[in-house]
Amino acid sequence: MRLKEKEALFDARDPRLRDDPYPLYQKLRDAEPVHRTPYGLWIVSGHSEVASLIRSPRLSSEYPQDPRWAEQRGGWDSPIVESTRRWMLMRDGGGHRRLRGLANPLFTTRAIQELAPRIEGIVHEIMDEMGSGRDVDLIGSLAARVPVTVFCGLGGLPVEDADLCRKWTDALGHVIDPSIDEATRRLMNDAAQEFGDYVAEHLAVRRAAPRDDLLSRLLLAEFDGEKLTDDEIIANVLMFFMGGHETTVNLIGNGMLGLLRHPDQLRALREDPGLIQNGIDELARYDAPIQLVARITTGDVEVGDTTIPAGSKVMILLGAANRDPRRYPDPDRLDLSRRDVHPLSFGGGPHYCIGAMLAKAEARLVFTELAGRYRDIRLTDEDVVWRPQVNIRGLSELRVDLVS
Ligand code: HEM
Repeated sequence: MRLKEKEALFDARDPRLRDDPYPLYQKLRDAEPVHRTPYGLWIVSGHSEVASLIRSPRLSSEYPQDPRWAEQRGGWDSPIVESTRRWMLMRDGGGHRRLRGLANPLFTTRAIQELAPRIEGIVHEIMDEMGSGRDVDLIGSLAARVPVTVFCGLGGLPVEDADLCRKWTDALGHVIDPSIDEATRRLMNDAAQEFGDYVAEHLAVRRAAPRDDLLSRLLLAEFDGEKLTDDEIIANVLMFFMGGHETTVNLIGNGMLGLLRHPDQLRALREDPGLIQNGIDELARYDAPIQLVARITTGDVEVGDTTIPAGSKVMILLGAANRDPRRYPDPDRLDLSRRDVHPLSFGGGPHYCIGAMLAKAEARLVFTELAGRYRDIRLTDEDVVWRPQVNIRGLSELRVDLVS
């Protein structure tokens, strides 16, 4: 392929990616599922290629070790960079294994099943408040309220503080933006400091009087004879809020839009609510809340018949892999009864999303309730507005008529 053609193959700044990235992914995947851009960045978009690459031990997620990354966010000693250096998401190897091993028991299928009644109570309360009516924004009145409120409730933090925690969480979310201006840097650092102090206060209370909540469980957690330090607990609680908020909002928002655009599927769900049990994976596959993750290779990595050399920057397109026809026949069709769906939307390998069970439990409840409570749900406006980020895919609003 000539250089000029290659240049046109994929550009992360292409504005068309925002409204509908899938035709562009298809073009890229068909041409080169493992693609090196003319400026040296690697982009991997085929299903089998993404699935094997993401499990490779020769990948690093330790962005905070990169002096430029840290500098852009306020420097090595800034509250946000100090916090991210302790996030399991941004650690490799043994450091990652230790944090992950200590936190894993909190998020297993069984642990989430035990928490289900509490999750259900919170979701029902938010939906009761939303009620029915015309021109309701499902993002603002529902999707954006569920994950943080649930996490406060399970974590042992007052649910009355959910709006405050959401404000901090939104600010922290900018940490993965590709470029950051001065105002955002300040916002993020203030949030890391204030949210960190807030969690520290509650942690001290739990240490004196443990209860049945996630903060108390993190204090008691032991793995290989080791425990978490307070700084590690505080940093990873911030990470749980950050990692679980916008992603779950978008699973609910993108999923609901998918259902509204496939009325036969919404009808099927209404007739058989049990469809959501596996259908949630299809919704996550169809329009992934996280479209891509980034890595640096620490050694040469074989992907298919291509070798990505050590020291390369790699963009792993989860959203493109989920729509690969070599893995999912007729991939652009949403089908809640599709079999054998294991979406890459929650990543894979050592960093596979620790909160996947929790997010799916929350979203299942929301979809079941939406389909069951309302006789009809209609899009108020066919033209929806997507948020500008390419790595995180979600709607700024989803306006619907809710007819009960
Ligand atoms: C639909 C909702 C969610 C989606 C789509 C999602 C997606 C992801 C993805 C793609 C990764 C891998 C990142 C990478 O490889 O660089 C990840 C990791 C992670 N997620 Fe989620 N996530 C969701 C919900 C949650 C929730 C509710 C929590 C809260 C506990 C959470 C906490 C985390 C953490 C801590 C990691 C890092 C795990 C590690 O490094 O070992 N996520 N998530």
